[in-house]
Amino acid sequence: MKIIMLGAPGAGKGTQAKMIAEKYDVPHVSTGDIFRANIKNGTELGMEAKKYMDEGLLVPDELTVRILLDRVAQEDCRKGYVLDGFPRTIPQAEVLDEALGKTGSKIDYAINVEVPDENIVKRMSGRRACLSCGATYHVEHVPPQKEGICDVCGKELVLRDDDKAETVRNRLDVYHKQTQPLIDFYQAKGILHSVDGTADMNDVFAAITEILG
Ligand code: AP5
Ligand code: MG
Repeated sequence: MKIIMLGAPGAGKGTQAKMIAEKYDVPHVSTGDIFRANIKNGTELGMEAKKYMDEGLLVPDELTVRILLDRVAQEDCRKGYVLDGFPRTIPQAEVLDEALGKTGSKIDYAINVEVPDENIVKRMSGRRACLSCGATYHVEHVPPQKEGICDVCGKELVLRDDDKAETVRNRLDVYHKQTQPLIDFYQAKGILHSVDGTADMNDVFAAITEILG
């Protein structure tokens, strides 16, 4: 089962992708998490990606596509995966289709998590992230057991550099211009399913499992 998560920054793609990955036993592949892990480890790729991420801009397609195709070529992705944050532009989606086509495969579901812009900025300022294991919390909606500490790995939780209100607004602009066209792209392929992302996260997940079966 190959699934794509679509939605604005902060819509809950990562939250739902992790739940899908667990229930359907497929890897959760997030380009944002891959970039953040590289930034944390000070790699060349991380340094390059950070320039764009800190401004709320997209990392160039060439770089992102290479990273993603390498990742999904790994053994654990053979049975499927849930992509979170990729594709984010039409060219990325086309490259993915082409690569899958070569192996006689295709994306099965594109899940669009819908949340209006007004809700997003508020959500992001409350998000806390673990840069070690990728777990995500929210100070009100999904608090960790111990304030500021990751339940999963015990490391410190941080406010992501790109979750400042001004950067979030840039990310929303970029989303509307560059990523939203993917909704029509997958609609035309007949695999688009939209869910109401403003509902409680367990209700959002219930709607998704209804779609995935
Ligand atoms: P990325 O890491 O993908 O960030 P994003 O798309 O901006 O999305 P977020 O991770 O911010 O939000 P989310 O939808 O995962 O929401 P979450 O579940 O955390 O990308 C970061 C950057 O990397 C990009 O700006 C770009 O520069 C670069 N990049 C990545 N991929 C790229 C690509 N393909 N091409 C080019 N550049 C790329 O939830 C948000 C908060 O809300 C959390 O606190 C959560 O606990 C809470 N929450 C979740 N669901 C609910 C709910 N139902 N009710 C209440 N609260 C909820
Ligand atoms: Mg995310």
